[in-house]
Amino acid sequence: MDVQPSSRFTVTPSQKAVTANERATLLADPGFGRIFTDHMVTIRYTEGQGWHSPAVGAREPFMLDPACAVLHYAQEIFEGMKAYRLEDGSIAMFRPEENARRFAQSAERMAMPVVPEELFLEAVEQLVAIDADWILGGEGSLYLRPFMFASEAFLGVRPSNEYIFCVIASPAGAYFKGGKKAVTLWVSEHYTRAARGGTGTAKCGGNYAASLVAQKEAIGHGCDQVVFLDAAENKWVEELGGMNIFFVMEDGSIITPPLGTILPGITRNSILSLARARGHEVREELYSFAQWRADASSGKMREAFACGTAAVVTAIGTVKSVDGDFTIGNGDGGIVTEALRAELTGIQRGTVADPAGWVRTL
Ligand code: PLP
Ligand code: COI
Repeated sequence: MDVQPSSRFTVTPSQKAVTANERATLLADPGFGRIFTDHMVTIRYTEGQGWHSPAVGAREPFMLDPACAVLHYAQEIFEGMKAYRLEDGSIAMFRPEENARRFAQSAERMAMPVVPEELFLEAVEQLVAIDADWILGGEGSLYLRPFMFASEAFLGVRPSNEYIFCVIASPAGAYFKGGKKAVTLWVSEHYTRAARGGTGTAKCGGNYAASLVAQKEAIGHGCDQVVFLDAAENKWVEELGGMNIFFVMEDGSIITPPLGTILPGITRNSILSLARARGHEVREELYSFAQWRADASSGKMREAFACGTAAVVTAIGTVKSVDGDFTIGNGDGGIVTEALRAELTGIQRGTVADPAGWVRTL
């Protein structure tokens, strides 16, 4: 029997929770993904029994058998979403149902059981409620990381019969150090992220493991993020290691790579709607790296930006590659990027109208 939401979570407050003073010290400079709240949510899955034992308890390490399937075959998926403290003190989340849906799609791709949408949302909300004191106001937020992994001790190569779904939370400031206005990208020449029929559209840990050597190369070239080209022709711009990408042209039209092998970003989807509503012509179409260089050099491209839950909307200033570097616009962002960033963050924080009903207040 699958558990019913809102009734069966056992809640055991942590005995090791930090004091208000300790928390304030930690929150003074949270960075991204470095500090964690007091609690976590866990729900277990056993083949034949379904989801069971939903619990809110102290954040603590897992005890894993060395034969635990995830340690060998990487059957793991995750999500990234944020809770915001609004000016009136209430708490809001941005399109959490979309994270629940994408999590279900990732699960299906990785032959894992689906966490029902209501159970996913309930789990996240339980954690936000018990760790509400950790939600930063202003520009900050509480980054939520739901994830699921294969927990059966078994070395045969087949889908696991046991899983653990867990949600942890991490107070978040800016993703890029120093809250940079514009970031620098490195175009990966050797490495690709996803191929047709692969796992590019799933948010699975393996995609990120495979991206790390390219990201390391980017850092080695003094860049903030790697940008991947397609695997078939090594020609079309796809996305960054952890963000989608948009291009703003001189005529005001906006281009973003189409879905297929990229992660279907919720920020990407939101930006598409906002840009259309603002009167931009928006095209989801293939765009080559060669064209990008030519358009940036001729001035036909005015702005480019990266977007995602962690990075929000971040301007792209310079692009580096083995064939040389080029700069977009004045290298420091632009008015379209800034307007879209302001509108999106305004909606998320309740200071701008939300006609599409994206904000879910707790
Ligand atoms: N692309 C990749 C590879 C990502 O890791 C992310 C971050 O989650 C995104 C795009 C943006 O997705 P979203 O806007 O849903 O956070
Ligand atoms: C997110 O934005 O949630 C991501 O997963 C991206 C990652 C680079 C932190």
